[in-house]
Amino acid sequence: MKKDFISILDITEDELHHILADAIQLKKLRQAGTLPEILKGKSLAMIFEKSSTRTHISFEVGMNELGGHALFLSTRDLQIGRGEEIRDTARVASRYVSAVMIRAYKQSTIEEFARYATIPVINGLSDREHPCQLLADIMTINEHVKDMKRLRVAWIGDGNNVCNSLILSSALTGMDVSIASPKGYAPKRDVLDHAREIGGTIHLSRSPEDAVRDADIIMTDTWVSMGDEDKREERIRAFSGYTVDEHLIRLASPDARVLHCLPAHRGEEISEGVIDGSQSLVWEETENRLHAQKALLLSLLKKREGIYR
Ligand code: CP
Ligand code: NVA
Repeated sequence: MKKDFISILDITEDELHHILADAIQLKKLRQAGTLPEILKGKSLAMIFEKSSTRTHISFEVGMNELGGHALFLSTRDLQIGRGEEIRDTARVASRYVSAVMIRAYKQSTIEEFARYATIPVINGLSDREHPCQLLADIMTINEHVKDMKRLRVAWIGDGNNVCNSLILSSALTGMDVSIASPKGYAPKRDVLDHAREIGGTIHLSRSPEDAVRDADIIMTDTWVSMGDEDKREERIRAFSGYTVDEHLIRLASPDARVLHCLPAHRGEEISEGVIDGSQSLVWEETENRLHAQKALLLSLLKKREGIYR
C-alpha cells in the first residue's frame, strides 16, 4: 500500500520520531560530506500551482543528494493548465515517477491526485496545511529542546495553512499551542475541533501579549498568503498590533526562540531585530526543510534502512 503525506496527521507519533531521527542522521552525514545515494533511479515530480523558493529547492536538492532525480513542473506548462483532469495526470505520473510533491491552491486538488495515484503524494502546501514545513519546524524545535511535551508554543497572526499544521501537530508532539489572531482570522473551527478530539492542547486569544507570555517558541507567518493578495490592504489593517517584535518577545521565556517559515515581511509580521536577532532560529529552520524532507522521502519510499547501512 502506498502512503501519502497530505496532512501532518498522515504520520503517527512513532513515524514522526523515526523521521526526526533519520533527518538528524542525514544532517550529520551531510555535514561530514557523505551523501548516501539511497534513491538512485527514483524520480520525484514536483508540481507547482504557486510560487516557491524553499520547497522547490529543498526537494530538488534533497532528491539529487539521495542519488535520485526531481522534475520541476509548473501547472502553467503542464496540460493541467489547459484542462487535463487531475485524475488523469495522477495516473500518468504514476507510470513515470516514484513520488509526487504538489503545491496547490486547494487541498482537495492534492487529495484528488492522491486518490488516483498509485505512488506516494506529498502536500507541498495547500490552503489547508503545510505539513512539510511542520516537519522541519518540529525538527528545529527538537534540536533545541529535547522534550516537546507541554512545550509552550505561541502562534501570532493568521490562522492559516502553516498554523493549521501546527495545531494538528499538537496531538503528535504534546506541544501546548496558544494562538493569537485578530477577529475573522482565527483558525477554522473544524481544525481546532479535530486537534482537540485527538488530544491536542490549543488556546485561542485575540491578545499577542497573552499568547506569548512564558512561551518557549514563538511562531508567525505572513499576513498575506499566496491567494490572499487581493485582500492585502484589509489584512494589513486587521493585523496591525500583531508584529512579533522586541517588545513582544520580552514577555516570553527569556530563552524563547522564534520560527518563521519564510518568506518574511520585515516590519509586518516580524521585526527586523527579531528575525535577524539572537533568538531567531529561522535559518536553521529553513535548512531543516532539506533534511526533514529527505527523511520523509525515504520513509514514504520505504528506504529508511539505507541510511544506517
Ligand atoms: N516556507 C516555504 O514553504 O517557502 P516557499 O514558499 O519558498 O517554498
Ligand atoms: N502561509 C503562506 C506560507 C508560505 C510558505 C502562504 O500560504 O503563502
